[in-house]
Amino acid sequence: MSDQVKMTPLDYSAERPAAKNPVKIMDLSLRDGHQSLFATRGRTEDMIPVAEMMDEVGFWAIETWGGATFDTMHRFLNEDPWERLRTLKRYIKKTPFSMLLRAQNLVGYRNYADDLAYAFVERAAENGMDVFRTFDALNDYRNFETVVEQIKKCGKHFQGCICYTLTEPRLGGEVYNLEYYTDRAKSLEDMGADSVCIKDMAGLLAPYDAYPLIKALKEVVKIPIHLHSHFTSGMSPMTHLKAIEAGVDIIDTCMTPYAYRTSHAAVEPLVMALLGTNRDTGFDIKKLAAINEIFEKEILPKYKHLLDDSKVSIIDINVLLHQTPGGMLSNLVNQLREMDALDKIDEVYKELPKVRKDLGQIPLVTPTSQIVGVQTVNNVLHDTPDERYKMITGQVKDLCYGLYGKTAVPIDAELQKKALKGYPRGEEPITCKPADVLEPELEKAKAEIGDLAVDLDDLILYAQFPVTGKKFLEWKYGKSEPPESVKAITLDDVKKKDEILKKAKEGKLIEAKGDEPAKSGNVRTFNVFVDNEYYNVEVDPTGDAPVLSVAPPAAAVVSSAPAATVPASAAPAAQTAAPSEPSSAPVDGTVLLAPMPGMIIKYERAEGDQVKSGDTIVVLEAMKMENSLTAPCDGTVQGIKFASGDTVSKGAVLCIIS
Ligand code: CO
Repeated sequence: MSDQVKMTPLDYSAERPAAKNPVKIMDLSLRDGHQSLFATRGRTEDMIPVAEMMDEVGFWAIETWGGATFDTMHRFLNEDPWERLRTLKRYIKKTPFSMLLRAQNLVGYRNYADDLAYAFVERAAENGMDVFRTFDALNDYRNFETVVEQIKKCGKHFQGCICYTLTEPRLGGEVYNLEYYTDRAKSLEDMGADSVCIKDMAGLLAPYDAYPLIKALKEVVKIPIHLHSHFTSGMSPMTHLKAIEAGVDIIDTCMTPYAYRTSHAAVEPLVMALLGTNRDTGFDIKKLAAINEIFEKEILPKYKHLLDDSKVSIIDINVLLHQTPGGMLSNLVNQLREMDALDKIDEVYKELPKVRKDLGQIPLVTPTSQIVGVQTVNNVLHDTPDERYKMITGQVKDLCYGLYGKTAVPIDAELQKKALKGYPRGEEPITCKPADVLEPELEKAKAEIGDLAVDLDDLILYAQFPVTGKKFLEWKYGKSEPPESVKAITLDDVKKKDEILKKAKEGKLIEAKGDEPAKSGNVRTFNVFVDNEYYNVEVDPTGDAPVLSVAPPAAAVVSSAPAATVPASAAPAAQTAAPSEPSSAPVDGTVLLAPMPGMIIKYERAEGDQVKSGDTIVVLEAMKMENSLTAPCDGTVQGIKFASGDTVSKGAVLCIIS
């Protein structure tokens, strides 16, 4: 590209001559940025201070919505996702908004019926959305038909995504080769796409694959090509540059504080790298710096605790080794950790490509990454030498039935047969477009939620998230008190926490707290050993769960202490103190235990019901996948202590069958 660089002294000012073919930039900080780095916990109030400044940069679009924001906002932030759109629109008036739409999955985790899909897109457009970046986890564009019809009807920009995935270390092989991608791009153009996006969610696109890929796409379609390449593996800045040389039209980046790790490359180095070339962005780097200053000083301190700083490296080379999204890998690690099975991670890495192959070599992106990931963990933990796929998730059954669409290669026939045994919709998989077999759902949702959904926006939220959506609507309309955990933290809170941390490091941790209950005469003291440290734990039994108060002893390290562990009598007390864990009463019968931590979606059977071995008793959501837990024997259901929406830990007694 040396012939394209002006060899005159470079002018940094915003008034420098415009490039012939500037690279357009979409900013992702306010959606994918905080989704990737801070578990999507960014609050609207923390976007407002920079909103007007970001509107002045000259971005092609700003991504503000979609992906996991809808779910996270109502579930963890007690924020109405629709309101964010309307609020930001008041500050960002010039720059179009972009959202990530999971096609027929909308912003949830399964295919929804057409009536809900039409309503969602229409309301999103009405609330201020401009660019609908649409993807389907299987790249099955039949799943685009409904939403695209509505996007076009609303006069909005339809950006069609091709999920970039590999089965080999680099582009090529039997399934995901150059022809695959050019063919997909042509289908998108034929469907009326206004632009095509290569969605490289795992950061797998290597620079010297990006060049021929973008070149080939530019040859087969006329519409602009947009590149979305996560940084995770460390390749994306190089990939951006080669894509730009190959003529890519639009690149996705983040503002520096939201950049790198599993997020995206930062915009500022790209602006500087292209300065004075024929692809110069034309951006004023000083404006970007001013925005960064606000993010760094006023906003990010509130989110720093969410940053995964367990590793020094900002690059995940496991992505290069396993061709798997970084987010999926960290989910797997978390899931194993919660189940005390982190030692099985290598088995999981080995099992994962097998499960993916059995399931038709599907791309790994929400929700298929969770589907493959959770099933892989289930196999590693529950399979026996003579039985594979012992515990098949509901979503794998749906996939085998065809409810997600057509897989790149056929699903393993034996697995498909096993998964569909007794499947409620039928044991014969479908070949039509999934939504064709889905009954309309808005009216049914309205009947369930009643007047708690005041308008269509409420109803759409509830229809996609029945359990957490209902909880949110109860908070929203003052029917129940939102828990402390959903409240925003302030810079003041951060300061206080930092002070406590400082004191802790200096060994002055214990402070008298006013709201501590007075100790009764029943207090019992236990020594609890964790690795080489021991804690003096006082247990004061109350009517409900025991109250624990922990005080580190003066000498924390006791490597020479007698080989004592937690006294047997202390163990059950410590366990029952875990959140939301009712103490286990004496059991008479066979217990159904939660095989993993998760949230109760619903009990299919009630107290006193007669059940047969194998009947579904309860549906448990773990890692966003639904698992049907079945009766281990015949008998009567008893001892149900949880309700829909409750969180349970591994080993919780879900019911007793006697
Ligand atoms: Co992304």
